[in-house]
Amino acid sequence: MRKKTILLIALLATVSGCSNLTAKRAKDPVETRVESLLAKMTLEEKVGQMTQVTLEVVAGRSDNGYLELDEKKLGDAVINHNVGSILNCGGQARTLENWHEIITRIQDLATKKTRLRIPIIYGIDAIHGVNYTLGATIFPQSIAVAATGNIELMQKLSEICAYETRASGIPWNFNPVLGLARQPLWPRVYETFGENAYIASQMGAAYVRAQQGGDISQPTKVAACMKHYLGYSFPLSGRDRTPAWIPERQLRELFLKPFAAAVEAGVATAMVNSSEINGIPVHASKFLLTDLLRGELGFEGFVVSDWADIENLYTREMVAADRREAVKQAVLAGIDMSMVPYDYSFYDTLIELVKAGEVPMQRIDQAVARILRVKARLGLFENPYPNKALAAGFATEASRKVNLQVATEAVTLLKNDNNTLPLRKGIKVLVTGPCADKLSYLNGGWTITWQGDKEELYPAEKFTILEAIQNRLGKQNVTYVQAVEFDKETDIAGAVAEAGQVDAVIACVGEPTYCETPGNIDDLTMTAPQLKLIEELAATGKPIILVLVEGRPRVIRTIVDKAPAILMAYLPGMEGGRAVADIIFGDANPSGKLPFTYPKYSSGHICYDHKPSEEKSGNKFDPQWQFGHGLSYTTFKYDDLKLDKSELAIGDNFTVSVKVTNTGNRPGKEIVQLFVSDIVATITPPVKSLKRFDKVDLKPGGSETVTFKLNTDDLAFIGLDNKPVVEPGQFKISVANLSKTFDVK
Ligand code: BGC
Repeated sequence: MRKKTILLIALLATVSGCSNLTAKRAKDPVETRVESLLAKMTLEEKVGQMTQVTLEVVAGRSDNGYLELDEKKLGDAVINHNVGSILNCGGQARTLENWHEIITRIQDLATKKTRLRIPIIYGIDAIHGVNYTLGATIFPQSIAVAATGNIELMQKLSEICAYETRASGIPWNFNPVLGLARQPLWPRVYETFGENAYIASQMGAAYVRAQQGGDISQPTKVAACMKHYLGYSFPLSGRDRTPAWIPERQLRELFLKPFAAAVEAGVATAMVNSSEINGIPVHASKFLLTDLLRGELGFEGFVVSDWADIENLYTREMVAADRREAVKQAVLAGIDMSMVPYDYSFYDTLIELVKAGEVPMQRIDQAVARILRVKARLGLFENPYPNKALAAGFATEASRKVNLQVATEAVTLLKNDNNTLPLRKGIKVLVTGPCADKLSYLNGGWTITWQGDKEELYPAEKFTILEAIQNRLGKQNVTYVQAVEFDKETDIAGAVAEAGQVDAVIACVGEPTYCETPGNIDDLTMTAPQLKLIEELAATGKPIILVLVEGRPRVIRTIVDKAPAILMAYLPGMEGGRAVADIIFGDANPSGKLPFTYPKYSSGHICYDHKPSEEKSGNKFDPQWQFGHGLSYTTFKYDDLKLDKSELAIGDNFTVSVKVTNTGNRPGKEIVQLFVSDIVATITPPVKSLKRFDKVDLKPGGSETVTFKLNTDDLAFIGLDNKPVVEPGQFKISVANLSKTFDVK
């Protein structure tokens, strides 16, 4: 009897809870629209919404080889197959006008010629600015943005990127990449915010907020897409789209955090890791896509597969025997939209599965509602068309200046013996190396084309490093000998001969452009011809300024001693040439810090937050440069590290403050980083973890007290039961060379 009463109460509570929720939703015009559409939609119309095809499917090559919309194919996609989404650029960047035409024609068809007039959601990879629109503001890649340590600057960048994406008529951006770069071989390191979960969370959340602006229906905002959920960035082999082995504890301790932060920031969509974790392809993991992402993180947007990755469940991952099984696994696991992207196989198969009762209609309705909700929130039902007026604010001079500032604040001074830098202006230099005179190498993949390698398509008005140096010194004072390709010596002797005639050598080495799997490498070591060039130039006795233009840290141990000054430029974007020259000649003071541990050797890599045993008992932690390393032309002194409490109870807030003074004679910015160490813990603690950072701007002699607010939650680790726990005991905080211990009771 008693049991029955309880049950009844529970039932009533649920019912009234439901009706409250329904009432609440009914008032929301977005929900009203979604519900009324769902009630009218046929199965075919619903599954169409879950289908995304690439532009190639609805276009054909014109006589000049350019991909243009094909009315018949477009009709087949939009009218016959009811597709919900189209993506990509069809090979290379397009003009703003061309994008407007494409989007207008697509929306004309979708919103005038289909039964229910549902607009298409067009998606693009605007990875570092809207890189598939010609003339856009193309920023440094994310790894460089992380190095700036400047959240405000990140916000400005993301706002400009959102604006220019929407100005192109595109409302959906497949960014940010929230994987952690803890495997330096991985070819997508440069798309991330580095190895640290806190930086990636802060940067990622700031990026999402600025993309979406709290209300994606605003004409200058887009829906962001956090990707690639989850664990994609940590392939054991370093090769793209290969297995990761990540215990659940480590997944939660590190890799999940940036995604949780993006969900918290209200990210509208998510894209899935192409590969597998612990033997389970993420596209087929109900635990990751539904239980964890929805149930625990509370994500409410829609989930899109990555490129052909449902198909890959049976062609590559081998967890499904055929397409039917693959589609069923993925949709039941929680994929809402399939980036098919070349045909209608997903559409046909899913319809069959629903008709056969193998995928419940309820699951289809759930996925479609999520997709329609994002479309409605974007305001696409009211206005699906490009807002041509936005062209006026596209790629403005103000945006270019922000771009230059990002590139400048990213550049990281790794070494500067005897104040070799900055160089005086009235000198003669030799500029050499494969990265000196190419815009493509400054930008990397996802620039104008997928691989970013079409130098001839880059804007003529932007400066390479060589051109920017010529602008500073006058052409007559700059000799240029490329000397090597990445994999080939061309004229090392010529460069060596010219080195004898100049005051200093600026050698720009690094990596060619690449993106995704084509960027796989077997060895992290910088290529032999480049190393040889530096060795031979060093023998001339002329000071070498080594500029690293690379998307991941290439091992350069053997030449570090040969160059008194080393600058990490990362992939600094269209203003990168200028930024590097500004820093070399002292027009700007470097302030970037490494967002990853720079390895000294090509194997045995460990990150800054390794375990104590990795630096004890005969082991040593010996990277080339530490995570967070970065010099300045001025000097900073840290004093008065203080905690406002000497003893904490679990749940307490506390404040850490430290005084930073610019003790040199130039203005400079400094990223102040706060680390915490848990001295003894049930799970072996990392030697330290970054918990806060801030960037200060100080005049010579100026000082500022930086205050960080924390809570004991910031001291938590993922415990034995895979849940966060704070264990009482001793902790240490450290900022620069200062540290303090304290107890938690
Ligand atoms: C990449 C994604 C990208 C998608 C669409 C895939 O190959 O992994 O990051 O968003 O293509 O271009």
